[in-house]
Amino acid sequence: MQIIESPQEMRNIVKSWRCAGEEIGYIPTMGALHAGHMALVEAARAANQRVVASIFVNPLQFGPHEDLDKYPRPIERDSQLLKEAGCDILFAPKVDAIYDGEEFTHGIHTYVEVNKLGDMWEGAVRPGHLRGVATVLVRFFNIVPAQRAYFGEKDYQQLKVVERVVQDLRYDLEIVPVATVREEDGLALSSRNVYLSEAERQVAPTLHQALQVGVTLVRNGEREVSTIGAAIQAVCDASQLIKVQYVAIVNAETLAPLDTLDGQPARALIAARLGSTRLIDNIAI
Ligand code: PAF
Repeated sequence: MQIIESPQEMRNIVKSWRCAGEEIGYIPTMGALHAGHMALVEAARAANQRVVASIFVNPLQFGPHEDLDKYPRPIERDSQLLKEAGCDILFAPKVDAIYDGEEFTHGIHTYVEVNKLGDMWEGAVRPGHLRGVATVLVRFFNIVPAQRAYFGEKDYQQLKVVERVVQDLRYDLEIVPVATVREEDGLALSSRNVYLSEAERQVAPTLHQALQVGVTLVRNGEREVSTIGAAIQAVCDASQLIKVQYVAIVNAETLAPLDTLDGQPARALIAARLGSTRLIDNIAI
């Protein structure tokens, strides 16, 4: 596996692969890789001749009081995992290769912002976060002109925002969603799970259990969103360590809140704080 820092070099290699008729699968990450990321690599490996993963802890998607500085950066371990998974290239640019120096002092030149879809839920709790994600991803999509890019369903709103950006900006890029990978007890894998204390880690699977309670209600015929939402919330509220930020039952495409389930695909979203750690999860409902 080659490790490349230079955007120009990265772009040239992908272009040469494309000229040779090869298909490229791309996995953007912020590193601190876990089995969820490896599922993305596996999916990319299965459908493309070439696989590129990037590691870039994107300052633009962190709020002023968030964990940018303490975000884990185990680069040696990450590159070993990617190599073993059959990745062809790890693209690991420095911050100043992606952002001009002046952008962090004078302001970002060009933002990509998705109205409505990017304003609700995560967009409301973490202002600027999804704009930061969309902005960095278009830069990466231009540096790594792959045919397919892989995203986990764990960050469901991020996935929908990226799909929207790719559609609206007419990228010739297929966004491939990959199912959330979970610990045996149901906790969705996340690079931030390492922040959880022992007690918090014990109750963290409650988020998934609560979502499953919602699914069971729906299977048993419940259609009132307020009833389903209240049941999900109650499961979480039973633990003093879990502070729910939102429970939302939404249209699976627009993420607009629903009043009743009408047979259209819907998704239950949840975000909660466990101490200083923020967890999100979701489920098809
Ligand atoms: O999900 C992530 O790890 C990040 O938001 C992403 C997609 C790599 C953009 O920085």
